[in-house]
Amino acid sequence: MKKIKILVINGPNLNLLGQRETDIYGSDTLDDINRLMQEYAQLKDIKLKLFQSNTEGEIIDCIQKNKNYDGLVINPAAFTHTSVAIRDAIAAVQIPTVETHLSNIYSREDFRHHSFLASVCLGQIAGFGVYSYILALQALENHLKSGEKKIIKPC
Ligand code: DQA
Repeated sequence: MKKIKILVINGPNLNLLGQRETDIYGSDTLDDINRLMQEYAQLKDIKLKLFQSNTEGEIIDCIQKNKNYDGLVINPAAFTHTSVAIRDAIAAVQIPTVETHLSNIYSREDFRHHSFLASVCLGQIAGFGVYSYILALQALENHLKSGEKKIIKPC
């Protein structure tokens, strides 16, 4: 069977994990999270490409350039709540996508309750700290292996 290729994108300020609001995001750094994901990916024979940027345009370029990937796990961070442009990029390339968050965005400030991306994603995982990423990989892997053709038609 062909190796599954998953792109993982982390948005703004996630390069500061481990130092940033550790009461909310925990003490693991982005390198720790990436290591954990690589361990999981090795076990499952998945190829991962890891990308982080604080810039909206760079995230859009990364999505467009890697449209040949089988799936996308994205923690858009604050762009979740602001970016029509990242949403449109995902809708344009039609990569099966899982949105993920370390924190439970629905138990936080009101402005975090809305995601511009969720409607073009297969689903969203939030609130499980670093394991949100592993759950997102599992969900995507399961979706891709099932051969399900979920057509994402945002309203
Ligand atoms: C976050 C939640 C966002 O609201 C916030 O802006 C982040 C991180 C999370 O992983 O919990 O930067 O995406």
